[in-house]
Amino acid sequence: MTVSVKKEIAEGIVLLTLAHPSGARLPDWTPGSHIDLVLPNGTTRQYSLCGDRWDAHTYRIAVLREPTGRGGSAHVHDRLKPGNRVGVGGPRNHFPLVPSEKYLFIAGGIGITPLLPMVRQADLLGADWQLLYGGRSRASMAFREELTQAYGGRVHVVPQDELGLLDLAAWLGIPDADTKVYCCGPAPLLAAVEAACATWPRYTLRVERFTTAAHTAPAREAAFDVELRRTGRTVTVTPEVSVLTAVRAAGADVLSSCEQGTCGTCLTPVLEGRPDHRDSVLAEHERAANDCMFPCVSRSCGDRLVLDL
Ligand code: FES
Repeated sequence: MTVSVKKEIAEGIVLLTLAHPSGARLPDWTPGSHIDLVLPNGTTRQYSLCGDRWDAHTYRIAVLREPTGRGGSAHVHDRLKPGNRVGVGGPRNHFPLVPSEKYLFIAGGIGITPLLPMVRQADLLGADWQLLYGGRSRASMAFREELTQAYGGRVHVVPQDELGLLDLAAWLGIPDADTKVYCCGPAPLLAAVEAACATWPRYTLRVERFTTAAHTAPAREAAFDVELRRTGRTVTVTPEVSVLTAVRAAGADVLSSCEQGTCGTCLTPVLEGRPDHRDSVLAEHERAANDCMFPCVSRSCGDRLVLDL
């Protein structure tokens, strides 16, 4: 795709508008979707779509400069210019908006991006919703004015330098079985929201992480076998290699992108065995089903897994 517009919309955040070079119609997407952005320097990064899903000819993403990142955001900020071509994969959605009459959206910083189309959809459908939006300062909070102008009192902007941290106890203190809670932001915010929702009914909270979740040690240290049912081969996965590396070496064709368990590209169906889920994509109930895994990071709890590969 071609970068048609690049502009700074908040401190350290640029908005990119992408279009097909021929002006062709783009694949449809739903709120919560992300794309892979393949930069001219060869790096691939995932960004949430934050534009208008009914605009069939452009995608919009917002990119935060991450000084301690691996160079993807720096390339976007410093090198990418309108007119440049970038590769785009997806869209994919691992953070879908489930139907509800009531939503509480909680965004921290750049975590506003996947929630922006959700807010629009919830409003369009006449749902009862509120957005709690925290950030370092007003100047660092992308889409702040756009949101407050469009939705007024439903949007609660909390710049940390003026008002401190989000008052999660006030918003989440009393569980409400009718409200779905969606949260995206830095890891400490996600952890605080998960803790505050611990007494809420199961499956009311959905979170999206931009970075790999903190993991404990793998469920087992020893090697395990992975049977590739369709390929008809079995490989032994030793502690030093990922399941993805091992199954590829055995001839399985599995697409991957982040290889950190955050993008969802390598999703693989599990036929038998119990995966040691180490990704940041699956919700609790999806993990419990044990019918799929992300082999770039996830491993096995037992001696053997059977994959539909
Ligand atoms: Fe991104 Fe596995 S490649 S989750």
